[in-house]
This record gives sequence, C-alpha cells and structure tokens, in this order.
Amino acid sequence: MLLFLSFFLSFSLFASEAIFDKKCLSCHTKMLSKSETLKNIKKLKAPPMLEVANRVKNAIKVTNNDEDLHKFVVVSFIKNYVKYPDIMSGFCTPMAYEKFDVMPSLKDKISEQDLDSVANWIYDFYEGKEFK
Ligand code: HEC
Repeated sequence: MLLFLSFFLSFSLFASEAIFDKKCLSCHTKMLSKSETLKNIKKLKAPPMLEVANRVKNAIKVTNNDEDLHKFVVVSFIKNYVKYPDIMSGFCTPMAYEKFDVMPSLKDKISEQDLDSVANWIYDFYEGKEFK
C-alpha cells in the first residue's frame, strides 16, 4: 500500500512536471540563476519560473503566515493569471512588462485539471529554491 502510494505520488509529480514542460517551458525556463538570466535576457521570452515563483510567493502575504492558506492563495493566483493575465493584477516589474510584454492568456489551451496540477507543482517544486 505504501509502495503504491509513493509510486502514485511520484507519478503525479512527474505528470505535473510534464504539464509544465508542455505548456509553460516554451517561454519560462525552469531553473536559471540571476546571472544566467541577465546574460541570456535577449533570448528569453519570459522571466524564469524560478524568479516568478519567488516573486509571487514573496508578494502574497497571509494572516498568521498560515502555510496552507498561503499555498491556496498563491496557487489560485497562478491559476487565475494563466487564464487572465493582466498588468494590474500581476507582480512583474514595469521593466519586465516592457521587455516581455504581458503573458498571452492560455485560457483555451489548458484544462482546469492540468492548470490545477501545474500550479500546485510550481508551488512545491520551488519551495526553498531561491532566485539568486
Ligand atoms: C507564450 C509565452 C508564455 C507561456 C507559454 C507561458 N507564459 Fe507565463 N508569462 C509570460 C510572460 C511574457 C510573462 C511576464 C509578463 C507578465 O507577467 O505578464 C509571464 C508571467 C507569468 C507569471 C507571473 C505573474 C506575475 O505577476 O509575476 C505567472 C504566474 C506565469 N507566467 C505562469 C505561467 C504558467 C503556469 C504557464 C504554463 C501553464 C505559463 N506562464 C506559460 C509568457 C508565457
């Protein structure tokens, strides 16, 4: 049972990462340091997801630093942003919007279920990984 569970868990993690690779990786690199980002800025189509995850997690504060609530709010923000990106609700710096422009909406390009998995995966995968 435990073996089955851990197999299932790692399989679903793998599956979520595969969704990221398919739907987000064409624009957002997964792990890129700050210096590599600056060096390659001309070639990038969007800020690295490592940076995005850090920025969004730091910008969103919840009462009592409740971890579950924090995850819920961050995941909801990501899901909403992917469907309805806009400057007013985003946390990108003005320079980033100028450089990359606003993200195109993926509303009709990703299922609700895949979006939920990938947003949760982003939260967990970048836990403790700093953009530096
Ligand atoms: C066609 C290119 C493209 C694809 C594909 C793409 N993005 Fe983006 N994304 C961008 C750009 C450009 C920005 C920076 C400007 C902005 O924030 O709108 C961005 C920004 C973001 C932000 C940051 C919002 C903020 O305020 O800091 C999140 C979250 C995000 N993307 C999530 C995703 C996820 C999740 C996927 C895959 C399901 C994805 N993106 C796929 C181009 C893309």
